[in-house]
Amino acid sequence: MSKLRVGIVFGGRSVEHEVSVASATSILHALDPSRYDVSLLCVDTDGRWRLGGPGAIPANAARGEEVSLPAVPGDGTLVSSASQRPVGRLDVIVPIIHGTGGEDGCIQGFLELAGVPYVGSGVLGSALQMDKDVAKRLLRAEGIPVVPWLAFRSHELADGAEAAADAALREIGLPAFVKPASLGSSVGISKAKSRAQLVEGLLQAARFDDKILVERAVNAREIEVGVLGNEAPEASVVGEIVPKREFYDYESKYVDEDTELLVPAPLEEAVADRARSLALRAYRVLEGSGLARVDFFLDRDSGELFLNELNSLPGFTEVSMYPRLWKASGLSYPALLDRLIELAVLRHRRPIPDTRTS
Ligand SMILES: Nc1ncnc2c1ncn2[C@@H]1O[C@H](COP(=O)(O)OP(=O)(O)O)[C@@H](O)[C@H]1O
Ligand SMILES: [Mg+2]
Repeated sequence: MSKLRVGIVFGGRSVEHEVSVASATSILHALDPSRYDVSLLCVDTDGRWRLGGPGAIPANAARGEEVSLPAVPGDGTLVSSASQRPVGRLDVIVPIIHGTGGEDGCIQGFLELAGVPYVGSGVLGSALQMDKDVAKRLLRAEGIPVVPWLAFRSHELADGAEAAADAALREIGLPAFVKPASLGSSVGISKAKSRAQLVEGLLQAARFDDKILVERAVNAREIEVGVLGNEAPEASVVGEIVPKREFYDYESKYVDEDTELLVPAPLEEAVADRARSLALRAYRVLEGSGLARVDFFLDRDSGELFLNELNSLPGFTEVSMYPRLWKASGLSYPALLDRLIELAVLRHRRPIPDTRTS
């Protein structure tokens, strides 16, 4: 049997470029060379695609030849930007670009046009899961508990965020979390304990996004569930993040060594079961396919479970939470990748209705 040609597309222009390089490095090492022919495609910080040459590793692939994938139905042929000659072909793509451009439906739409199967959610699912405001509106309509929030547009902060801060004080109260609607890795997020911090937080978040959320702060344990599958998704065992800082901010995600990941989470079985069943419901509501990591807040005071967010392309190094949850559920890291690639190919095979009227 010929090998499947897999392209790992990683890097990207978002603040999570380095995180993506780490995920790509782990994935490259885990893909079985007897089954897959792997190409590294680094989206550099200018947004250009670079093909890593023989022996390239993700950390240096940004120096590779500039290539492009034509966004017309084709066979996954990559062409050199300089010579316009074919330089490779891909059967399936593992897009592992976190955040803006990678996780929000943009690259998914591009790959749909190019006709190449890819791992993870499609355009709609990716976009819905990325926008914390739209996601919460849909989850709430479905009866899935979410933390009360207000959303503002950046133009509504033109008065120095005074009116927005007053509305948030009135309807949400303090302490509150202020966050950009569509970022990740906790960038632009702050906890406000006073009106002044609320104003400052709103203005800071508006530097990163056109839409900003203010949310009631929950005194929370942070619980995470892995979901895997297309039409019949499954939920993993439940994990818990124990950050050593005031909240799970950028430093605790990538700099601190002492954030603890507990797999499985020390939870009563009924709570873990509820998290798993809410995760599966949310995955359907937000049009998930392939995979998502579903994150919850478990209120230490009331015992309530709130759904915080879905991550359609979660951190994917071998020690990241999502692969660890599946390992504890009986699926090794290489087997998880095999399954995700298989799911990508299966999803792509769905027939496209012919609606031409000739
Ligand atoms: N409403 C909230 N109550 C308590 N902690 C919160 C709340 N919102 C965010 N946080 C803290 O900030 C972190 C990042 O927020 P999150 O909404 O998950 O954004 P990101 O997409 O950047 O991960 C959370 O993991 C948690 O530690
Ligand atoms: Mg998060």
